[in-house]
Formats: sequence, structure tokens, C-alpha cells
Amino acid sequence: MKTTEPLILSIESSCDDSGAAVLRGRTVLSNVVYSQTVHEAFGGVVPELASRAHSQTVVPTIQAALAKAGVAFGDLDAVAATEGPGLLGSLLVGHGTAKAIAQSLSLPFIGVHHIQAHVLAHSLVEPGIQEQALEGFPFLALVVSGGHTQLFDVRGPFDFRLLGGTLDDAVGEAFDKAAKMFGLPYPGGPEVDRRAELGNAQRFSFARMQTPGLDFSYSGLKTSILYTLQKEQKLRPDTLEADLDDWCASARQALIQPLLDRLDRALKPEHRYAVLAGGVAANRLLRREVRAWGSQRGVSVGIPPLSYATDNAAMIGAVAYYAFHEGRFSEMDRAASARLEVPSHHG
Ligand code: KG4
Ligand code: ZN
Repeated sequence: MKTTEPLILSIESSCDDSGAAVLRGRTVLSNVVYSQTVHEAFGGVVPELASRAHSQTVVPTIQAALAKAGVAFGDLDAVAATEGPGLLGSLLVGHGTAKAIAQSLSLPFIGVHHIQAHVLAHSLVEPGIQEQALEGFPFLALVVSGGHTQLFDVRGPFDFRLLGGTLDDAVGEAFDKAAKMFGLPYPGGPEVDRRAELGNAQRFSFARMQTPGLDFSYSGLKTSILYTLQKEQKLRPDTLEADLDDWCASARQALIQPLLDRLDRALKPEHRYAVLAGGVAANRLLRREVRAWGSQRGVSVGIPPLSYATDNAAMIGAVAYYAFHEGRFSEMDRAASARLEVPSHHG
């Protein structure tokens, strides 16, 4: 006889979004995200304001997730929260709240690694959002966000092997910096992408990324975009107004190409599929190119729906689900941590 799958409440508060979700097994019953708007005027996330906003929104966000799922606190089997990495003041709010709920209900608590959660989001099922989950190990994962650019060989839910990462800026950060050079408001990544659809990617060319192996370096490319722009502006001062779409298309092409190169070089016959994760997985060119690459290499690709690509709590629940089945519960004296190593089994 099949036993009932666990009912898990999960909380995510690593940066500037407060998220709460309820999962029954791998099925997402609710996934609520409250995005903070206080940072817009500052051109970037202000940690102190983020932490304060989390304190105000965490409880209503949890209540909304429970109500949407039609679940009461007393029905839960476990409570999970992001433990790190992220902004410490923000992490503390969600992590502390989750521990308090678990403690008061005598439920197990599960502290979750944020990047592991991004990567395992493909295992979730939600009607109308992600109908079919990809399953099995090992697989290849490319994490692309505002804070991370990492390629993993994922051997098991708690066994991540880092194949390559960025030596400086993350790709999302590089998108946002390019957007700033083009005079677009923060965070400009999505706007660069939107305009790029209308532009000519061959119009401007930049220095190629030279990093050996499977690592990335975006600072050189960023400088190259700046110098190319300054040079062009000397000849044609109105180039940004006249050719903005072409600048966006050319920059997007240059920022995405190194991701595709390394994905292709990292793929091994034993990989059952490849997944994209993180906010930059929303990028239209990246989505198209990774799909085309998958059919060309004969490998399935998991491209997350937007609500699972950007920071959300359902992905925290995806890790909690595996942890619950393996009995990997966290002690109540676990602390949130701004820096946290992704789980791996060496040797
Ligand atoms: O994963 P995420 O929501 O937050 C973290 O960084 O953890 O990623 C946000 C990043 C930002 O840098 C944003 O500009 C970028 O993802 N981004 C995009 C697109 N949508 C979001 N970059 C390029 N094209 C997009 N469509
Ligand atoms: Zn994230």
C-alpha cells in the first residue's frame, strides 16, 4: 500500500524575494512570492532594507501559501528554509521563522542550500506550470543567476560536483552591468533580452572569453563592451539612441555564447539530461539555443518555467522532499550562513 507523501512548508528569503510554498511530495500545492520593490530607487539590492522587508512579509507570505494550498499548520509533516548562501540578514528571517514554526509544532526542520534548490527545481510537478518532472542521476546542471554562474555534474540529490564557475562576475550581473552602460534601469537583464529580440547580434563584436577549461570570466567581456561602446560613441555620439536594439542583441549573444560552449564540452554520455536553473534561464536566446543544442546532441533538456527559475520557495521544497525521504533533518541549532558549500560526496 502506498503511504501518503509528506506535506512540507518551505520558505525562501536569501535575497530580495520572500517566498513560501506548500508541497505534497513533489507536487506543488502553492508557491507564493512577494517581490520587494524598495530597492528600485537604489539601482541594486540594499541588504538592510531587504532584511527589514522580509520581517514584514514573511508571516503574510506563509499564511497566503497555506491558504492557497488549503492546508493548516497542524497538517504539516516538516518545515524547510533556505540556509544559504545569500544575504545574511535576509536568510536569518526565513530560516529563523521556519525553525520557530517547526519547534512549536514539534516537526522536523530542514535547512536547504539555495543553489541545490535551483538545480533540483526540475523535479517538481505543478499542474499548468510544469506537468512533467525529469528524474534520475547523474545529470548536468547550468546555474545562471544574478549571483551565480556554475556548471555541476549532479551525481545524486546531495552529491554535486562543481565542474566550472565564474572567476569574477556572474552572467546575470554582467547582463545588468551591460544594461546600465546602455542606460537601462536596474535590473536590466530582462530589458536587454527584450530589445535584443529586435536587434542585429552581428552589428558589434567584443573580445571572446579566454578562460580555460569550464570556468567563466565576465569582467573582461564587460570591459570589452564598455570600450567598444565608447569607441563607437566617438564616431557616432547618438549610437545608443539609434542602435540600442543592436547593442542589446550583440551583448546578449556575447554573454550567452560562453555558456553554450561550456555546456557542450561538459556533457558526458552518462548524463541522462541537462537542466538550466536560475533567473537568467528566462533569457530567450539561451532557452532557444539550449533547446537546439539538446536536439542536436540527442539529450533531453529541462528548462524551468519562469516561476521556478527565479528565486522561489517551491524549489526549497524540492530539496526538502529528498531530505525527508533520506531522513536528513537539521538540528535546531543550525544557523543561516551567507556562504555555504554545495553538498557533495568526495571520493
Ligand atoms: O535567480 P535570480 O532571480 O536572482 C538571483 O540572482 O539569485 O536572477 C536574477 C538575475 C538578474 O541579474 C536579472 O537581470 C537576470 O537574472 N535576468 C535575465 C533575464 N531575466 C532575469 N538576464 C537576461 N535575460 C533575461 N531574460
Ligand atoms: Zn537564486
